[in-house]
Amino acid sequence: MSASLFNRAKEIIPGGVNSPVRFYEPYPFFASYGKGSKIITEEHDTLIDYCLGYGSVLLGHAYVDVINAVKAQLDKGNIFCVPTEKEIRLSELIIEMIPNMEMVRLMNTGLESTMHSIRLARAFTKKKKVVKFDGCYHGAYDYVLVSPGSSASSASDEGNLQSSMKETLLLPYNDIAAIEDVVKQDEDIACIIVEPVLANMGLVLPMADYLSKLRKITEKEEIVLIFDEVVTGFRLSPGGASEYFGVTPDIMTLAKSIGNGFPLSAIVGKKKIMELLSPKGTVFQGSTYAGNPTSVTAGIATLEKLKDFKNDLYPKLSRFSDTLTIGIKDHIKDLKIGASVNHISSMFQLFFTHEQIKNASDVRKSNQLLYKKLFSELLKSGIFIPPSQFETCFISYSHDDDDIDKTMDAFAKALKKVKEIE
Ligand SMILES: Cc1ncc(COP(=O)(O)O)c(C=O)c1O
Repeated sequence: MSASLFNRAKEIIPGGVNSPVRFYEPYPFFASYGKGSKIITEEHDTLIDYCLGYGSVLLGHAYVDVINAVKAQLDKGNIFCVPTEKEIRLSELIIEMIPNMEMVRLMNTGLESTMHSIRLARAFTKKKKVVKFDGCYHGAYDYVLVSPGSSASSASDEGNLQSSMKETLLLPYNDIAAIEDVVKQDEDIACIIVEPVLANMGLVLPMADYLSKLRKITEKEEIVLIFDEVVTGFRLSPGGASEYFGVTPDIMTLAKSIGNGFPLSAIVGKKKIMELLSPKGTVFQGSTYAGNPTSVTAGIATLEKLKDFKNDLYPKLSRFSDTLTIGIKDHIKDLKIGASVNHISSMFQLFFTHEQIKNASDVRKSNQLLYKKLFSELLKSGIFIPPSQFETCFISYSHDDDDIDKTMDAFAKALKKVKEIE
């Protein structure tokens, strides 16, 4: 079924998919529907989902509170392009949950939120250059497609404007000395944009004090610090990575978990920067779909759930993640496989390497053939992890003990198969 659907798709959709990350050899399975922790394929196979819309589906698929709220809104209209009370309610909820932030602008995609954050930073500082880190992914536009992670890591520069890209300075992640050097040499840096936890190169964790040192340097040099929390926002903790690590950026971008996967994103930040946005200020940002009642309703229902259930939700996600990763590490040790596991909160990833993974170049050195083998063996056992080593595995609030037990058994079997070809 998926094979014939893919043959049909590739005739009309370039490469058969609407985002390159979704393709893997020989063809991807097609989803029929999702419920809770599961995706049901067109072949009627039930898969326990650890890809979760690349981290979007924090509560679980078709989560009833969110879906019912959206259905009720749909009966009242899905777009007006005039303000609604719900936009204020959602913005208030965001500010309540994210520490030290003052204003919100709602948008639709992660790309928009990072792109407009950079524009704001340039306007605020009257400087031009952007520092980004090797392997961080901030969306599909020229000046952040400089050594990006995710599926863009294998993309060419074709079609990108070189003059835009050359304003972006590339540094290795987790290397404070490199930042100290670059700010000494270049006085034209408007912002440093970083995924506080690098989730687009497998999963790379910030070393102790990395984020707080980044904060100190940017404060001293009057450089805007942007935390791209498109993945980590509301996932690592109710207040995202900023709350988790106790470091406050100047601007934070949010998407994915904010609406449990509905197209919804936001920039949050300090008033003195945010008020530069038009029509209050002169920095242009606009979108027909921004703040549309459908996505906003999903956002309110999701954040109310996260806020009201945070004492159950975040510990539960961490417990599952701990159980899984401890179990996987035990299997790796028993089978004497050269592999390591990174994990934080409800995010984890395996790497087939003896090295500790600290940055993108460490990830590139890991054995991706073995990862592909792991992916295909797990899929045969009904477990769906991201097909690419450069992505992260996620757990949702709808996963349960039975899912975790089944996943552990599947990993035990799959890792044995990996060992056979190691
Ligand atoms: C950290 C991060 N920033 C930005 C983006 C871009 O978001 P979108 O795909 O919604 O444009 C992504 C997408 O995966 C992401 O992971």
